[in-house]
Amino acid sequence: MSVQLNMTTIADDLTQDALLLDQRAQDLLFREARTANAFTDEPVTDEQLAAIFELVKWAPTAMNAQPLRVVIVRSAEARERLLPHLAEGNRAKTAAAPATALLAADLDFHDELPRTFPHFPGARDMFAGDEEGRVRTAELSAGLQVGYAIIGIRAAGLAAGPMTGFDAESLSREFFPDGRHRVLVAINMGQPAEDAWRDRLPRLPFEDVVTAL
Ligand SMILES: Cc1cc2nc3c(=O)[nH]c(=O)nc-3n(C[C@H](O)[C@H](O)[C@H](O)COP(=O)(O)O)c2cc1C
Repeated sequence: MSVQLNMTTIADDLTQDALLLDQRAQDLLFREARTANAFTDEPVTDEQLAAIFELVKWAPTAMNAQPLRVVIVRSAEARERLLPHLAEGNRAKTAAAPATALLAADLDFHDELPRTFPHFPGARDMFAGDEEGRVRTAELSAGLQVGYAIIGIRAAGLAAGPMTGFDAESLSREFFPDGRHRVLVAINMGQPAEDAWRDRLPRLPFEDVVTAL
């Protein structure tokens, strides 16, 4: 055990030299950032939502398409609409969360390309006739934006509890009734309660994940 701990410390010391981000920010965004399963009733404010967005909007996306669309559930009425679409195991904690972000891919993101990728006038039409490629692009880039959103929430000093345990079709229809959006991930957010954490699960090591050629 102590050998393992020493090796971890040595590895951490070595990797620190290669990182520019200060250690407090590393801990906040990565090492000490946990998936929260319980929250206090402290509200998530409009100012926090705007500040998070102003960071997350810089996420890179394919052809700068920015397909992510977000609904924030905070009112009791919206929460009542949300809960029936969730897996049973996700309901109680979501009912008690101060805010839940529904992160969806806009399957018609290509309509914005003249604005977001103006130097390539053919971009919109390229996707217009390719529904399959459009859905694939929307889900991949919006998925990347979801990852940025989790980090953005943490940067605001809040905890995030991402979930995919829901009926994606009915949930998407409930909050995006045009039928052109697909909810990818729901994220409970707020200040974590004392009993928010499950045990930290092991991560795969570098050598199992990365091949450097
Ligand atoms: C895309 C995604 C979907 C998840 N879905 C659920 C879920 O439906 N219910 C749940 O309780 N946890 C869910 N989780 C939480 C994961 O189990 C958790 O993030 C992971 O075990 C790492 O935990 P840690 O951040 O505390 O180390 C999900 C996480 C992600 C990123």
